[in-house]
Amino acid sequence: MTLFPSSTQEIPTVGDVPRHIAIIMDGNGRWAKKRFMPRVAGHKRGVETVREIIKACVQRGVSYLTLFAFSSENWRRPQEEVSFLMQLFLRALEDEVVKLHENRIRFRVIGDLSRFDPQIVALIKRSEALTAGNSALTLTIAANYGGRWDILQAMERMLAANPDKRGSFTEADLAHHLALNYGPEPDLFIRTGGEQRISNFLLWQLAYSEFYFTDTLWPEFDAAALDQAIASYQQRERRFGRTSEQLQADGMPARPEDQARSSSAASENA
Ligand code: IPE
Ligand code: IPE
Ligand code: MG
Repeated sequence: MTLFPSSTQEIPTVGDVPRHIAIIMDGNGRWAKKRFMPRVAGHKRGVETVREIIKACVQRGVSYLTLFAFSSENWRRPQEEVSFLMQLFLRALEDEVVKLHENRIRFRVIGDLSRFDPQIVALIKRSEALTAGNSALTLTIAANYGGRWDILQAMERMLAANPDKRGSFTEADLAHHLALNYGPEPDLFIRTGGEQRISNFLLWQLAYSEFYFTDTLWPEFDAAALDQAIASYQQRERRFGRTSEQLQADGMPARPEDQARSSSAASENA
């Protein structure tokens, strides 16, 4: 079974700081183009943002950070850009994993690794093993990841694990085989770069995540921008299918704007 309850099976406890943030890091190419630089310069600059955001998440007490680095559809890009991204990933792994370990960060990769260079796969496995016992933050890089790939591979693994069980699977049976089965569902989903779409990211796990879209391009996204996203998250009322009145009856605080509205209504009535 998964360690964490599913948002559709039971109502999760919600804290002020999102326990899990998932980010589509978009806009590197446009950032570079604006500066008359090649697209790949934007990817290089984007790695610096990754460092800053990891640090900020540790400082703010976020437990899981999942970053979409390369989608199953990104192979459709020009071959030189794909090779550059692979090289950048390899170099970042070589340079950063020891630092991640020193900062007690657990490192994981989700995605179909079968298309990756064996050298990268070996390094990923070593890095995951080295950092497996760390608990300051679980950093997951989604590489050659697609939400549909994930659901399909989970189905295959679930059926292989239960060859005789037919027709009576539960959500939990499937969730147990999803690539991100070691973490809770994202509380907060952020996409930089202005597009408002999921682009085949965590289709299953985003069922009840709060969505935050910003026009800021990924290379310009920083700790202050992350704080704005978290502040927006803190304004949301996560109902998980219930009514607002039910939440308040359970002792959940009303959202600040609702409080303001009801106190101004009270003063109007006075
Ligand atoms: C996101 O930036 C990085 C990857 C998809 C690898 P893009 O490269 O998609 O940048 P834009 O969207 O073209 O600006
Ligand atoms: C999504 O960005 C994938 C990553 C950030 C890795 P894309 O730039 O590939 O998404 P689309 O093509 O605009 O939807
Ligand atoms: Mg893009």
